[in-house]
Amino acid sequence: MAGIKIDGKEIAQTVKDRVKRAVEELKSQGINPCLATILVGDNPASATYVKNKHQACKEVGISTKDHKLDAGTTQIQLNEIIENLNNDKSVHGILVQLPLPDQLDEFTTTSRISPLKDVDGLTPHNAGLLAMKKAALVACTPSGVMEMFEYYNIDLEGKNVVLINRSNLVGKPLYHLLLEKNATVTTCHSKTKNLKELCQSADIVITAVGDRSRFILTPDMIKEGAVVIDVAISRFQEKLVGDSDYDQIIQKASYATPVPGGVGPMTVAMLLKNTVTAASLSSQIGR
Ligand code: GUN
Repeated sequence: MAGIKIDGKEIAQTVKDRVKRAVEELKSQGINPCLATILVGDNPASATYVKNKHQACKEVGISTKDHKLDAGTTQIQLNEIIENLNNDKSVHGILVQLPLPDQLDEFTTTSRISPLKDVDGLTPHNAGLLAMKKAALVACTPSGVMEMFEYYNIDLEGKNVVLINRSNLVGKPLYHLLLEKNATVTTCHSKTKNLKELCQSADIVITAVGDRSRFILTPDMIKEGAVVIDVAISRFQEKLVGDSDYDQIIQKASYATPVPGGVGPMTVAMLLKNTVTAASLSSQIGR
């Protein structure tokens, strides 16, 4: 029997509804939540993601500031823009869309963002707090995945979770969030041996490779009744696809996410939630 679709759009809407109410509450206290985005260069996928983020902010009443920078922007110029936004009291969240052009360093850039405005949870401060179970601002895709488990009452305690990604934005934060829920987490990557066997032994597979020439999660790689969360999104034969084919994987999985319409909408919804959290954090410390 086919499993249940984890509907990212439906869950994202419930998050947005909650955020909208929180925005109204903040506005009634004279706080106008505002997200500033920085997009460097002309990567069309990144431009679309940033446009979607602005649109979602508008839907829930969050105002935005849009910084579109030339592909040749230097590190010094970018640092200065971040510094200005750090000091701008009307801005509560700062998001630098990744990836950056080659002349710019991701760590140098994101670690300059004030931890109180770090809506991606990428600063060393917030990444460290997450590892110690004290984070207020957590990377959006990982927290969106956790929201999906919660919405469908998928219990994580004692479950074997295979995570195929080790990035700062996805794999590492998810590792900590899953561990907090008492899952047993195996973090896999391009050098992992016996990946197929590891996936076959997993109760839950979370995959985020995003390159079908390197990896495809096929039904023979999962056990009957496994939960499959497909975080990847890439263009393949003119279509947007994940690491797995939803129509096939759902025949064997108990729950699975489609692509598109799965994790993607959750990332945006959690960004809105983080912006509201950042706005309340700033107001609490009087900034
Ligand atoms: N590029 C792809 N996903 C993300 C994200 O969640 N945040 C940022 N800043 N860049 C991204």
